[in-house]
Amino acid sequence: MKSDKLLGNRGLSIKKNSTDINLKGFSGYELKHSKEIDDEIARIGPGTKAGEYFRRYWHPIFISSELGDLPVAIKILGEELVLFRDQSLQLGLVHKHCPHRQASLEFGICQKTGISCCYHGWHFDVDGSILEVPGQPEHTQDFIKQKVRLGAYPTHEFKGLIFAYLGPIEKKPEFPNYDSLDFDGMEMVPYKAPFDCNWLQVLDAIVDPIHTSFLHSNMSRQQFSEGFGEVGQIDFFERDNWILGCNTRRVGDNVWFRVNEVVLPNFTQAGAAFAADGTRQILYGRSSFTRWVVPVDDETTICYAWANFGERGDPQEYNTPEGPELIEQGEIFDRPYEQRQRFPADREACEGMGPINIHKNENLLASDQGVAMMRQKIREQIRSLDAGKEPLKVTELKDSPIPTYGGDSVINIPSSVQDENDFFSKLAHEFIKIQFEVDGKSEKERVEIVTNKLKEIQSRENP
Ligand code: FES
Ligand SMILES: [Fe+2]
Repeated sequence: MKSDKLLGNRGLSIKKNSTDINLKGFSGYELKHSKEIDDEIARIGPGTKAGEYFRRYWHPIFISSELGDLPVAIKILGEELVLFRDQSLQLGLVHKHCPHRQASLEFGICQKTGISCCYHGWHFDVDGSILEVPGQPEHTQDFIKQKVRLGAYPTHEFKGLIFAYLGPIEKKPEFPNYDSLDFDGMEMVPYKAPFDCNWLQVLDAIVDPIHTSFLHSNMSRQQFSEGFGEVGQIDFFERDNWILGCNTRRVGDNVWFRVNEVVLPNFTQAGAAFAADGTRQILYGRSSFTRWVVPVDDETTICYAWANFGERGDPQEYNTPEGPELIEQGEIFDRPYEQRQRFPADREACEGMGPINIHKNENLLASDQGVAMMRQKIREQIRSLDAGKEPLKVTELKDSPIPTYGGDSVINIPSSVQDENDFFSKLAHEFIKIQFEVDGKSEKERVEIVTNKLKEIQSRENP
């Protein structure tokens, strides 16, 4: 494993003692486990440091088509909220409890503008300001309108997902215009994937590419395409808000680059689940999902995402009701317990760690470098914000659109040496550098340049 900017074994820990105890065997009594949760990076509720960090970014919170004419109670970042669409089709995202006497607005009445509380009829606009306090004298109404507010957050609806910003209003960033939100010929289908565990253990999986070879390939059954069983070489790269893991594998006479991507704090993309298997040439394929890992509370997470179908994503034949779940984790989510045991997928792996994974009980290896890097980077950002410095915002890094890198490329390079890992690592570094060099160019130019450079590598390695 190599990294552009890895600092030795930073964050990696092999515990000497645990190895000693294992060597003795039957060490159950002696082997003690920590109960200490890494609160600094795991807990995201209001007033926590990580919670404050998350409250500097837009997050998807609901699927548009699931919001009807009734309000819904939801929880995001540990906050109890109510989402509704008023009769003028404006979205409202407000604190759950009415500021009068705390009735829940999930039982509120959606009005032409805003929502009214069912209990005494206080009427709120979508920004939380009070429009009417029925049955009260005018001076009381005026007083209440001036002195009381319902907490509310800005929303943004885009391609079937509803996003919200839960931070200080004066720090609200632009909605991030990632390149992958608008690829020609890509059909983006919204989906959600719930996990009963802390957000970080769900996010960890994306910077842990090697799990694909085991959980999704060699352990129970082939959940994605066949080539995933080959471990290959894994290199990690970090840059600004990004962490990339490039898995480079040999499949016959081809070399397959699969790039997993996290843009902190929780935006993720990866290569295709089914379109790529290493057997056919792919020049600059892109991610089969565009996804955010959204903390509901400290022990519950929902991934909101689009599954991407089309020439540069996954094949249309997977554009079925179950398709996005198969792309997400290789198995459908809701299935009998025995099935989950026989054919475990990400839900089983992540939830099985417990509600909040205790990092002190882990033994990280070199293949966990991406996980260590990501946690470290998150910690740095959280501490930096706590010290008064605003965290990196993707929209400040580049003019729009913001370049992303998750995807597959497969080129023809027949094997020429026995141990190819160093060769693969060099190729991966070259491939990522090519992509970084076209940042800021139009999508058309990027496709043209990256495709041509991949063809050049192919020619160079086929003398
Ligand atoms: S509790 Fe909502 S109007 Fe009284
Ligand atoms: Fe997975």
